[in-house]
Amino acid sequence: MNPEISVKIDDKEIKTAPGVNLIDLAKEHGIEIPHYCYHPALAVAGNCRICFVEVEGMPHPQIACNTPVRDGMVVRTKSELAVEARKWTLEFLLANHPLDCPVCDKAGECDLQNYAFKYGRSHTDFVEKKRTPATVRLSDKLMLEKDRCIVCLRCVQFLRDVDGKEELYVHQRGNSAEIATAPGKDLESDYQLNTADICPVGALSPTNFRFAERVWNLEKRESICPLCPRGCNTKIDIKDNVVQRVVPRFNKEVNSYWMCDEGRSYFSKYHTNRRRIEGFWHRGEPIDAASFFVSVARRLQQEAATDILVLVSNWLCNEDIQAIADFVDGSLSAATISGPPFKEGGDHLLRRWDFGPNARGLRDIFKGRFHEPNKLKQSFKLALSFGVTPSKDLNIDELIYLGAYMEPFIANTLYVAPGVAHGEIHGSYTNFAGVVQSFDTFLEAPVQAHTCEEFIGKLLPLLEHR
Ligand code: SF4
Ligand code: SF4
Ligand code: FES
Repeated sequence: MNPEISVKIDDKEIKTAPGVNLIDLAKEHGIEIPHYCYHPALAVAGNCRICFVEVEGMPHPQIACNTPVRDGMVVRTKSELAVEARKWTLEFLLANHPLDCPVCDKAGECDLQNYAFKYGRSHTDFVEKKRTPATVRLSDKLMLEKDRCIVCLRCVQFLRDVDGKEELYVHQRGNSAEIATAPGKDLESDYQLNTADICPVGALSPTNFRFAERVWNLEKRESICPLCPRGCNTKIDIKDNVVQRVVPRFNKEVNSYWMCDEGRSYFSKYHTNRRRIEGFWHRGEPIDAASFFVSVARRLQQEAATDILVLVSNWLCNEDIQAIADFVDGSLSAATISGPPFKEGGDHLLRRWDFGPNARGLRDIFKGRFHEPNKLKQSFKLALSFGVTPSKDLNIDELIYLGAYMEPFIANTLYVAPGVAHGEIHGSYTNFAGVVQSFDTFLEAPVQAHTCEEFIGKLLPLLEHR
């Protein structure tokens, strides 16, 4: 049986499979059908009625989100019937909505603002006073401006159907309908900020971004969340070399449309305010870069015949790890390779318990040569660490360290070099399921910071010439 059927949308003949959602099909072919409550990852709710289209043979406008396509269907999205129906829907959706776009965080990326401009009426017939329910705190992470809510129910559906938490519900009915938590209860979901992403208006706002920036002033980049080995795909908003906001980017295979709340806070918690290693150091004293590399090369060659411990971080990209593997093979005859311990498992949705993005890439590249930290012998004369804080259980006489952030142990370290952090490198991570994902640089690194590849590139000629 040939699964192909033929549908006409706005005079465009489209071949497709039966049962496809009309909004998705139209979008695929460059035709916009406005929608609020419909979301491709949620069940069809049919609440908002903004997606009205005319379907030939039907006397009334139809909601496109609940109209699976069938062979021979003729759809008009711009006919008088569809346009009028949409206008009146908007009139009702705006009945209680305040005209506060200039002070709303959603301005610039708000579907109510955009659709009202494109499809709405320039005046209203309502003479009634708008309702002005209070702004409420849903949790430490999320605020709800009730007057902006159009009761599309995406937030309720996400928490209930995707996260499995019945934490939001609709209080009252009709004109008085409001989104609410159970009396006296905060939202507890670890994924609650996804509701702010999918809220089509400015009703839900994250406390850590509320009133912070206008979205059109932010530089938009794409990346991968580094906090756990899921590797959720992200969009990053930056201003003045500081990450202001992280939101999920769709990847069907890895994270769908979602990410966890903790992943969004990576930069504010683990990067932005941490003191960086700047310059090169020898036992707590500054040293110039040229002397640093000559001294490190000499020290490594003095110990070339002994068992040097090479610690490799699971925060490094595959390319840096490969450079370290090549360096060890070519220049260190008796090295032991290890890194941070791996924490198995994860939660019910996305989060994995291991801290860092690339434990799998690290183990895939070194294969059997990687020693799990609990199987290491305890004493080494010399260790070379690429971003790993050595465990207190290890007895290391001398340490050479390349890393991004100041740590207490650095004051007594033999040699220290400034490294780059996530966001300042490009490369790829291998996620826990083996998916290799590339990412680009989006932050400027401190002037002297070196990637592992650059560090090794400066060391190698000095080793060869001795
Ligand atoms: S808060 Fe936003 S997502 Fe939730 S029902 Fe209201 S408009 Fe929809
Ligand atoms: S699940 Fe993991 S990768 Fe995804 S956002 Fe959370 S911490 Fe980041
Ligand atoms: S998008 Fe179709 S009714 Fe809301």
